[in-house]
Amino acid sequence: MTLDANRAAARRESPGGAVEIRGLSVALGTGARRVEAVRDLDLRVEGGELVSLLGPSGCGKSTILNAVAGYVAPERGSIVVGGERVEGPGPSRGMVFQQSSLLPWKTVLNNVGFGLKMRGVPERERREASRRLLSLVGLSGFEDAYPAQLSGGMRQRVEIARVLITEPRVVLMDEPFSALDAQTRLSMQELLLDVFRQVRTTVLFVTHDIDEAIFLSDRIALMTRRPCRVGAEIAVPFGRPRTAAIVGSGEFAAIKRRCLEALRDERAAAAHRHDLEAQTSA
Ligand SMILES: Nc1ncnc2c1ncn2[C@@H]1O[C@H](COP(=O)(O)OP(=O)(O)OP(=O)(O)O)[C@@H](O)[C@H]1O
Ligand SMILES: [Mg+2]
Repeated sequence: MTLDANRAAARRESPGGAVEIRGLSVALGTGARRVEAVRDLDLRVEGGELVSLLGPSGCGKSTILNAVAGYVAPERGSIVVGGERVEGPGPSRGMVFQQSSLLPWKTVLNNVGFGLKMRGVPERERREASRRLLSLVGLSGFEDAYPAQLSGGMRQRVEIARVLITEPRVVLMDEPFSALDAQTRLSMQELLLDVFRQVRTTVLFVTHDIDEAIFLSDRIALMTRRPCRVGAEIAVPFGRPRTAAIVGSGEFAAIKRRCLEALRDERAAAAHRHDLEAQTSA
């Protein structure tokens, strides 16, 4: 498992694995605390595609990512990544969280190389690959720093490098920038577009932020309230590479309006369901 130049070039041409979610239902907790988080979710993400899951707080977005990562077992349904059925955690999927998952006692270089160390990759190879990934995320020169010495944005750059080093077929990102200030967030979004232009992989990206979803995605899946499924899908027609200039365009505003309308319709439908439930239980 190396990241040599030939393979890196091949990866740029061959996108990551497709994700196929069929009839997925997930419940969390047990007994009186049992919560049906996801019900009958169908979603297909093509290899190399970046799809955002956009939806209200608590609807079940993280649960979907956790199921794709293999951290939670579905009650029903199937998840297939790159042609292989997900049965538990595995190297085909890498996750970037909102909160830093870096080991505070390890340097940036060793944090990035940790996944390779776990696989028994020799140190010299590990260091080389880690340096290359750090350069990709604009952090050359910070190899020997410790996580606590970095800003929040820099830590998330290290997270991205840490995940990419094991060459996952799919990168799962759970609100990776929502703890950052607006300015840093924008530059991280631009960095992400640049990184995924060079390392073509499939991305499933969770966010609350409509602008972020439109700027980054090929497609947006608007999620319903809990139990969560895809309420509507909106294609984002902007080509790549993209620049922040598209944010001010009329087309961007039109897509945003469609997202807002779809979310409003979902709120109205949820209120209607709530009323019906209240009537039937009365
Ligand atoms: N261990 C658990 N036991 C019971 N319920 C849980 C458990 N973990 C999460 N939940 C509930 O399941 C629902 C879905 O949670 P999830 O974290 O997937 O939502 P989310 O869409 O990611 O929310 P947010 O936008 O706030 O991150 C929430 O209502 C949450 O309260
Ligand atoms: Mg969440």
